[in-house]
Amino acid sequence: MAVILGIESSCDETSASICINGKVINNEIASQAIHAQYGGVVPELASREHQRNIVPIVNHVIHHASINVTELDAIAYTRGPGLLGALLVGNSFAKAMAASLNIPLIPVHHMKAHVLAHFIDDPNPAYPFICLTVSGGHTQILKVNSPTDMDILGQTKDDAVGEAFDKAAKLLGLPYPGGPMIDKLAKDGDPYRFKFAESVMPALDYSFSGIKTSILYFLRKELKKDKGFIKNNLTDLAASIQQTLISMLLDKLTKATRQENINQVAIAGGVSANSGLRKVLELNSKELGWDVFIPDFQYCTDNAGMIAISGHLLYEHGSFGKITDSPLPRMPF
Ligand code: KG4
Ligand code: ZN
Repeated sequence: MAVILGIESSCDETSASICINGKVINNEIASQAIHAQYGGVVPELASREHQRNIVPIVNHVIHHASINVTELDAIAYTRGPGLLGALLVGNSFAKAMAASLNIPLIPVHHMKAHVLAHFIDDPNPAYPFICLTVSGGHTQILKVNSPTDMDILGQTKDDAVGEAFDKAAKLLGLPYPGGPMIDKLAKDGDPYRFKFAESVMPALDYSFSGIKTSILYFLRKELKKDKGFIKNNLTDLAASIQQTLISMLLDKLTKATRQENINQVAIAGGVSANSGLRKVLELNSKELGWDVFIPDFQYCTDNAGMIAISGHLLYEHGSFGKITDSPLPRMPF
């Protein structure tokens, strides 16, 4: 039984959350709109925005959970992976606050936290389960044995699938981050109109860098014939790109469930917000007998609720950090 403050600052969202006895009470996120005009996250601007947001957002969640700061039992924070300057803000703040309150720190691995977001709301997957983690920085298939024991079964060898969504969107002239825009446009398009080559990788690994090149060459060829090609075919292009990426994801995910003989299937990370992916998973749950778990939308993209629940599970496990721990931009899994 514990009251945990969770802090997330690995990329471009400053977020704080309170978890009381395993129940996430709130999850406040300050998004950084400033990056859109640069077509991607600018690390130094992200750090400055975190500096601006961190104190107000932490005060906000403590106030709205109707607790006193002295009631906190521990502070969980994202130690990595992520942008160094961004991580430093959350890390330093967490340390200073924990030191002043004389309470323990719980360093959390951002990618493991995306997985543990499945324990915020009921129903929860039963261990062991397969988790497909799909974000702007990672694409992994995991076998999750417990909150502290996860095996990587396969992963991308180059770009993450979120990156592929964003790069494809950029080629279509859409603003950053393009993933949600592709999703929205794809709803009105024909997913089988255009074909893009799916990269073939051994075992359960992925490669997403080739698809960007395949889309680029295809668009160059068509634009030579028709300058308005992208504008005139935008929804079909978005739907076809989305279909290709989802098909690649599902192929390896299905292989993983067969290989491990597990039918508990969870998805995590920003791309799990994709409505096309959600639809295919629903279909598979009927056709392949999967029990599918998808977190509530607010817990799919970067958020502190997942850090707070990870903090709760690690607190129960007795996994604490040290005041001398530094951020790990490439934190090992
Ligand atoms: O997990 P996340 O919020 O941040 C990282 O840790 O990377 O994931 C962000 C990624 C971005 O690439 C964004 O384009 C993608 O998730 N994304 C989506 C959707 N919503 C977010 N991609 C496709 N469809 C969506 N609806
Ligand atoms: Zn993330």
